[in-house]
Parts: sequence; structure tokens; C-alpha cells
Amino acid sequence: MAPVSTRHLLKMKTQGEKIVAVTAYDYPFARLADASGVDIILVGDSLAMVVQGQKTTLPVTMEEMLYHTRMVSRAAERALVVGDMPFLSYQADIGEAVRNAGLFLKEAGASAVKLEGGAGVCATIKAMVDAGIPVQAHIGLTPQSVHAMGGYRIQRDEERLVEDAHRVMEAGAFSVVLEGIPAPIARRITEEIAIPTIGIGAGVHCDGQILVMHDLLGLNLGYMPKFTKLFADLKGEAVKGFKAYGDAVREGSFPGPEHSYE
Ligand code: KIV
Repeated sequence: MAPVSTRHLLKMKTQGEKIVAVTAYDYPFARLADASGVDIILVGDSLAMVVQGQKTTLPVTMEEMLYHTRMVSRAAERALVVGDMPFLSYQADIGEAVRNAGLFLKEAGASAVKLEGGAGVCATIKAMVDAGIPVQAHIGLTPQSVHAMGGYRIQRDEERLVEDAHRVMEAGAFSVVLEGIPAPIARRITEEIAIPTIGIGAGVHCDGQILVMHDLLGLNLGYMPKFTKLFADLKGEAVKGFKAYGDAVREGSFPGPEHSYE
């Protein structure tokens, strides 16, 4: 099967075909996601929270993001791999932002990058696109701005959200993530702009959806926001497996002769 490209995603929007996106952070889960037929695998900076156990996404570094993106890129045969630009890797200086974005493609095998922000990051998006780096924008509830937003709050300023969506499209973004915004606003944006919208907590009318892998597979050990849904319970299965292994070791039934060498 041909690898998914940004052109392919645009075609899916025009044909009304839903885009399926998910996060993954390592080789085995990226292989499973890819084999399931997802269109986009985002190596999200959410890994700070769901993999590293940090309280916010802010502490994760470029080095760590590249490390995880390499694992995912090795695994994905079909899905478009998007590397998420971590906090402070693109906000301070446009030249540094382009160089950091380029590292996701050059050293980590991603096909695109994602960054958070609307009108305020358009010059950065344009500089990246001019350098040949496909960019996915991310507007609405932008977790890297958690302190500026006063918490993880649903964003309801319709005119600002619509303006941001148009501006990132005009700057050259190939797609935009809409996070934590009312469904009617996401619908209006999806109808107005020409690039695919990928929703998370933005209702059903987006061109596609994305969820954090740990939330949908039941591996989230913390808070589950309203917009997530459990599609499998790997946490329950993992605990069952660890417990069965522990019981077998303690009672001496593992390893058996079939697991031992003469
Ligand atoms: O970091 C992430 O996982 C994300 C998605 C939730 C869109 O940005």
C-alpha cells in the first residue's frame, strides 16, 4: 500500500473520507497502529505525560522527541508520521524553529511536524513550509500554553478560532488539529477551510479524529478527559498478565521443562 502523503489527506477531505489519526511513541505500538490502517501517527509531546509521567507537556526536550520519533518512523510503512515540536523548540526564533523542524525529517524519519498556535506562529509555519517541511497546525486548547490559558480549558472564542484556522491555512499548513473547542465552531471551521481538520474534543464534524493512544487503549493511569473513549482495556490485560506471571514464579510452575535447556 502506498504511504499516506499530505496530498492524499487533502483528497480524503474533498471526498468526505474520514481521516484516522492516533499518537504512538515507540516501535511496537507504532507497528500495531500502522497495521490497523490509521492514516496519521503523531509522535505527540503528550509523551511527556503518558510515557514520562510528567505533569504537563512542557518538560519534554527536542532530543527526547527525536528519539521517540525515530522508533515510530522505523515502524510505520503506510501512515504519515508527524513529529510534534516540543515547547521552546520553535517559539523563540524562526531560524532555530526551522532547524529543529528539519531535524524531525532529517534525523528522525518523520514526514511532517506539528506545532501549536494560530495567527502568532504563521511566520514560523511559512518559513518551515518554504524550507520544504510540511506543517500541521494545532489551535484551540493548546497544552503548551496551559499556564497562559489558566488550565486545560475549552476554547470558545469563535471569531478568534476561525481567524486562526484561516491564517494557518494561508501560511501553508497542510492540516490543522482542533483541540478542545465546541463542536459547532469546529464544524464551521471544517466547512470554511480547504485543509483537513483533525479533531480532539472538537465533535464529529471534523475531517478526521485523533486520540492519545494511552487513552483509547486503556493505558492512561491518570485523568481521562470527557472527549476520550476507551476502545480496549490493555491496562486490565497487563495487570492480569503480570499477576499470572508472578503467581507462576511463586508457585514454581514457570519456567516449565518446555522453557528450559538440557
Ligand atoms: O501531543 C499530542 O498528543 C497532541 C494530540 C493530542 C493532538 O498534540
